[in-house]
Amino acid sequence: MAKKPIILGIETSCDETAVSLVQDNDSGVPKILSNVISSQFDVHKEFGGVVPELAARSHIEKIDLIAKKAIKESGVKLNDISAVAATVGPGLIVCLSVGLNFGKAMASSLNIPFIGVNHLEGHALSPKLHTKLDYPYLLLLISGGHSQYLSVNGLGNYKRLGTTIDDALGEAFDKTAKLLGIEFPGGPKLEKYAKKGDPKKFQLPMPIINKGGCNLSFAGLKTAILRISKNLKSEQEKFDLAASFQNTIENILFIKTKKAFEEFKKNNLNEKQFFVVAGGVAANKGIRDKLTEVSKQCNFQTIYPNINLCGDNAAMISMVGLEKYKLNQFDELDLPASPRLPLDKNAKFLKGAGVKI
Ligand code: KG4
Ligand code: ZN
Repeated sequence: MAKKPIILGIETSCDETAVSLVQDNDSGVPKILSNVISSQFDVHKEFGGVVPELAARSHIEKIDLIAKKAIKESGVKLNDISAVAATVGPGLIVCLSVGLNFGKAMASSLNIPFIGVNHLEGHALSPKLHTKLDYPYLLLLISGGHSQYLSVNGLGNYKRLGTTIDDALGEAFDKTAKLLGIEFPGGPKLEKYAKKGDPKKFQLPMPIINKGGCNLSFAGLKTAILRISKNLKSEQEKFDLAASFQNTIENILFIKTKKAFEEFKKNNLNEKQFFVVAGGVAANKGIRDKLTEVSKQCNFQTIYPNINLCGDNAAMISMVGLEKYKLNQFDELDLPASPRLPLDKNAKFLKGAGVKI
């Protein structure tokens, strides 16, 4: 019997250096043979955000080591790798270039196909690494640089239903955390703070909640937090503000997701609909619970990637690479990095610089 294809995937779009090997499987759910991630948390901590030049330097220092580790852990011989996939965008150009060039060099020396992968497509399809999932489905992509509702109609076939008009949700979490004195990236810790506070203590705005369809906006929320955070009198009030923020986000997503469901249903009349929530912020338990609640109300079934696959990783890049490999969708070795690559080809532009949309 012919061996199932094995794809080596590389992810270096921002501050994670990651390499993974994934193999096709008859079950329809590919097998993760290895999934190595090295975070640059310590490199950027003191700056309160990702410094592109330092991120790129760290990728250069680590990529070789991480690739060797991933290959060793997978038990795969170099000659058994069918293709190399690497993130082509969106992301920081200096960071993308490291993984992209490494991947091209590897594909060239092994004389196997090279496949460029859209980082957002990796997130969009990430639950397929453990769940058999058919198209179409509604996707809410929420991470440090992205916040959007998309109709996922097939591989490479996306229709954007709504997007943030200013900050991404992960960015809102990180900025709020910073104002509360939590170190970068504060999202996960902010969620912990919120558990100790009173969610009703502070009244926070819900920008564009009754307009703009399923577009999102978080900048006004950040301004309100900035004002309130200056007058906090105790540690308990910090927890209360975190809880009020978490609660407001949950309510915004509840209302906007209902709108996205309506929008999605206009073109999809199936009895049972699927709703995938992906990206780093999809690890937030409170958000998961709230989105599960609204899904039940509207007859959608929620699917979340496993927690370890919510943040940036290379398994999702290998998996998209595998889907493209099976369709013979290969790229030339002169494929350039694409820092503002959208997922929906009809979306005119990605807002903000680098990884933001
Ligand atoms: O997908 P990701 O790893 O990187 C990007 O592509 O941006 O997402 C990172 C973002 C950060 O803003 C981080 O604070 C946020 O996801 N995040 C969370 C949680 N875990 C990660 N935000 C809220 N609650 C969490 N539990
Ligand atoms: Zn990401």
